[in-house]
Amino acid sequence: MSTFKKMMEKTALPLFSNKTILISTGSDAMTEKSKTEKAKISWKSKDCLGLRGVSRDEIELVLNTARSMKEIHSRTVKKVPPLRGKVAVSLFYEPSTRTRTSFELAATRLSADVISIAASTSSVVKGETIIDTANNLRVMGTDVIIMRHNLAGAPHHLARNIDIPVINAGDGTNEHPTQALLDMFTIREHKGQLEGLTVAIVGDIIHGRVAHSDMWGLLTMGAKVRFVGPPTLIPESVKDFGVEVYHNLDEALEGVDVINMLRIQRERMTKNFFPSSKEYSRIFGLNMERLKRCKPGVLVMHPGPINRGVEIDSDVADCKSSVILEQVTNGIAVRMALLYLLVSGEKETHEKTTDSTPSLFE
Ligand code: CP
Repeated sequence: MSTFKKMMEKTALPLFSNKTILISTGSDAMTEKSKTEKAKISWKSKDCLGLRGVSRDEIELVLNTARSMKEIHSRTVKKVPPLRGKVAVSLFYEPSTRTRTSFELAATRLSADVISIAASTSSVVKGETIIDTANNLRVMGTDVIIMRHNLAGAPHHLARNIDIPVINAGDGTNEHPTQALLDMFTIREHKGQLEGLTVAIVGDIIHGRVAHSDMWGLLTMGAKVRFVGPPTLIPESVKDFGVEVYHNLDEALEGVDVINMLRIQRERMTKNFFPSSKEYSRIFGLNMERLKRCKPGVLVMHPGPINRGVEIDSDVADCKSSVILEQVTNGIAVRMALLYLLVSGEKETHEKTTDSTPSLFE
């Protein structure tokens, strides 16, 4: 038996083509069909650019595959061979600690060769375009590009112009799909399902790419989403998508199962959206007093980086209800799952992406 086959048996990952997997759909997919039979499900796009338009089956596929990947994390030797011989490039035009490290660890654990490029120390500073940079990486044998950019739509632009998978690791104020996938994975681990839960997402919604991807993903999975913050930080248009909007944090936290606190993204602000950090913290910050009034078992989440004492108090960030560091750990399994689904197996001739909706809020 080959090493690959042995690994797949051990991890309960099926031996199908790179993007198609036979899974038993979980508790979030409650159709008659899914209750009685296994469904053949695949990740449809060559890329992962956002969760807008991604189906419930596809999200289930990633979350279920990530469950198998997480088991690898508990082994002494945290490495398996599906991406042996493949090359993953992380191309970051913006700073990152969690996303970049966990993508690189994820690719390494799947045995890919990983090249890490920070735009600030590459030929980008000499004026090279995204497509020229990426094409140069492609002809050196790159199989997947993981890209973060300060401009909404930059990964979509690249994906339309290159025939290898592109994964969006955060584009401006638009989307951060893998953060939302790891958020949903973490919630599901604790709550068993996403369907029927109420999730409050608090803070800088207008600049928050995590908020946008969380919204698409959670609504697709049957959860209720509450956006909470000052009117200046929540676009009215979100109500059209089925989100409830609150400007009073105490009212918004009543009965919620999950609270996801977001950082104020000062680097994206061109004007003052609220009087001061102290004022913001008093009105929209999560403190222990507010947490104690919440439903028992409520989960406290934050995508990081945290601004302690602004959107969340230190004692709340570090308390028993907080799953902030679990989110970081789960990021590796979720990104392994996505890389596995997009890159492993027979090399396919990929269709160019048809996604032409780079940004919701720009
Ligand atoms: N959550 C997140 O995207 O963190 P980084 O900016 O550190 O990658």
